[in-house]
Amino acid sequence: MATVIVFDEYGEPDVLHPIEVPDPEPGPGQVRIRVRAAGVQPFDCGTRRGDFADYFPLEFPARLGNEVAGIVDQAGSGVTSVAEGDEVIAFLRMQGYADTVVVPADQVAKRPASMPWGEAGVLSASGQTAQTALDELAVAPGDTVLIHAAAGGVGSFAVQIARERGAAVIGTASEHNHDYLRSLGAIPVTYGPGLADRVRSVAPDGVDAVLDAIGGEALDVSVELVGSTERIVTIADWANAARLGVRRVGTERSVGKLAELTRMYGEGHLKVSIWKAFPLARTADAHREVETGHVRGKVVLTVD
Ligand SMILES: NC(=O)c1ccc[n+]([C@@H]2O[C@H](COP(=O)([O-])OP(=O)(O)OC[C@H]3O[C@@H](n4cnc5c(N)ncnc54)[C@H](OP(=O)(O)O)[C@@H]3O)[C@@H](O)[C@H]2O)c1
Repeated sequence: MATVIVFDEYGEPDVLHPIEVPDPEPGPGQVRIRVRAAGVQPFDCGTRRGDFADYFPLEFPARLGNEVAGIVDQAGSGVTSVAEGDEVIAFLRMQGYADTVVVPADQVAKRPASMPWGEAGVLSASGQTAQTALDELAVAPGDTVLIHAAAGGVGSFAVQIARERGAAVIGTASEHNHDYLRSLGAIPVTYGPGLADRVRSVAPDGVDAVLDAIGGEALDVSVELVGSTERIVTIADWANAARLGVRRVGTERSVGKLAELTRMYGEGHLKVSIWKAFPLARTADAHREVETGHVRGKVVLTVD
């Protein structure tokens, strides 16, 4: 049997609870993974609350979780890229909070040998969002990039990937996260009133591109700083994006993107920061943590 976290109605974190289901069997082209770690995202919390219910209604019991790491214990017919016993990272859609998952083999990459399970479990969702947004911005050597909410899950990856692509990076966060941002390679700036002037003081030649991961006033400040909307994207605020004519970006995931992340990690160019880890049985507490809005890096669920 497998343990899966589900919810039967929208609501507070306590709606999340475990159930036992028969072990899933991998079909052709799929693999079964015994999960060791699974990432938690703000999207999961919003889905649980019912924020997207009007345009994306769920069937209950519903599941959550878009990223896992674990060990392949069965491969379906036709799978040649991974085999039983391989330690892997995978991306999937609303299935990850479980001790066992079945995933298409083309959504699976090998875990770098030096990468702890917790870090492997949170690599693929926010990492690929950061890559998608920076691709959309065409970030290149010589750019100065402003990243709003730089200490969060997506921001932490985005800072490091933008640095690897040759950009100078300014990241917004509250003061207690400034040393953390410096450790990732960003120039930290405190958000809130006066933000535009603070950014100008550390970027006298101007800002070329913006990745917004918080929305609200950050988008107005971004347009003021860049002077046009062409090289501004948001992953967080659809309403203000529409008002200002800023592009909204979703996440385009692929094993190619995942391979870039594992390569960067292997070469020592990517740190993965775990803010807190919770056993699968405490998924509700993990959601409460993410819902503070002040996670540094990522929150992970672990399976022994
Ligand atoms: N479109 C997509 O495909 C996609 C994918 C992933 C995420 N998202 C969305 O993108 C947003 C960010 O996701 P995430 O996983 O990075 O979130 P997260 O990890 O929960 O972000 C937490 C961070 O936000 C910072 N923060 C809070 N208020 C801020 C403000 N006013 N200005 C700047 N930073 C602030 C906090 O820093 P301090 O503690 O220093 O305040 C904290 O480090 C969420 O809305 C999420 O739903 C969209």
